[in-house]
Amino acid sequence: MSTFKAPKGTYDLTPPDSAIYLAVREAIAAPLKRSGYGYIETPGFEQVELFSRGVGESTDIVSKEMYTLTTRGGDELALRPEGTASVLRAALEANLHKAGNLPVKLWYSGSYYRYERPQAGRYRHFSQVGAEAIGTEDPALDAELIILAVDAYRSLGLKDFRLLLNSLGDKECRPAYREALQGFLRGLDLDEDTRRRIEINPLRVLDDKREAVQKQLVGAPMLRDHLCEACKAYHEEVRALLTAAGVAFVDDEKLVRGLDYYTRTTFEFVHGGLGSQSAVGGGGRYDGLSEMIGGPALPSVGWALGVDRTVLALKAEGIELDLPAATRVYAVPLGEEARKVVFGLVTELRRAGVATDFAFGGKGLKNAMKSANRSGARFALVAGERDLAEGVVQLKDLESGEQTGVALDAVVRELLAKQG
Ligand code: HAM
Repeated sequence: MSTFKAPKGTYDLTPPDSAIYLAVREAIAAPLKRSGYGYIETPGFEQVELFSRGVGESTDIVSKEMYTLTTRGGDELALRPEGTASVLRAALEANLHKAGNLPVKLWYSGSYYRYERPQAGRYRHFSQVGAEAIGTEDPALDAELIILAVDAYRSLGLKDFRLLLNSLGDKECRPAYREALQGFLRGLDLDEDTRRRIEINPLRVLDDKREAVQKQLVGAPMLRDHLCEACKAYHEEVRALLTAAGVAFVDDEKLVRGLDYYTRTTFEFVHGGLGSQSAVGGGGRYDGLSEMIGGPALPSVGWALGVDRTVLALKAEGIELDLPAATRVYAVPLGEEARKVVFGLVTELRRAGVATDFAFGGKGLKNAMKSANRSGARFALVAGERDLAEGVVQLKDLESGEQTGVALDAVVRELLAKQG
């Protein structure tokens, strides 16, 4: 071990487990790639103000959890705590919304940073795959995104997840509801912090996990009863489209989410095997965000799925992904002359598409065969001077133990054929 450790709240991805993370990212991205979403990558840091304006000054993410820094040049930057504000900023900067083809559909995959209290499933560095559809107000777009997330989870074999769905209303109906809720909340027996929250973001109080608070919330006005006709109709259509697609959901009128930009559709995917950090993904519509960060009106919707928690969910359900073996063939030369020929064969096999590794470091046969077994390879390709003089290599099936001589010029063909 070195003197150093991964910083608190972070962990390294190392083989073989790292392959699961790659596979999860690919599985989440696959439905997006076949649905018109283009790949976008943005910097790991942005101006602090993008997040304080976009995600919201009063949210935990901005007020308590951002990693901020001042550069030598005096710029105030923050490591990105989430992807939506960055992606929208980038889309506006590149004028993607002016190319005449709305919605602009984008997907991304990367690292995010939140200074949270670390616990199982909650880290200070974590990874998300996300999708944003920018510039169109259409319930079918909300439904599309939700269906694509469900398809991603299903393709991984996950079963024990639920979709929680809510509507947060819009700028027509939410202000009046906010006032009604504030009126109700001000009459309750709550601590200082919560009383402050009533004035800044009363909807967040509904989300308070403490039992003493939840008890008092019985009878609180619910947004569902205050939605304007347009929001109601919009929400009904999202629900109907999901039902038609065979996607089950739970109406959760208390689902608020921890970011301020949401309007109308909001949703969260929760998994039954994860304890308190049960949200494996979440998202919603953010019709006002573009204007909040200085852009034109661009109604948009998106989600981000947590890769770390999806991997935990797979473990909780005992799902082992069917990952291709990192190494198919392990090549073992016996002697200096054989080394050159076998190394050449390794390159040939790799170029032909056969995952091949080589016994580096001049290992003896016994050690090399141990390495072959540990590598997970199906075949060991062994050749000494005598084999090569006869123009063959020995191919050992490490599962059956069977060994056959194969002509040098047939090795690539033979192994490709065995790959199917
Ligand atoms: P979020 O709900 O903050 O939404 O994060 C999405 C997912 O990221 C969570 O459901 C969770 O799986 C994962 N996640 C968040 N924080 C942590 C953490 N500290 N440790 C491990 N996993 C974590 C957003 O970030 C929005 N940008 C989603 C969105 C996209 N809304 C519209 N478009």
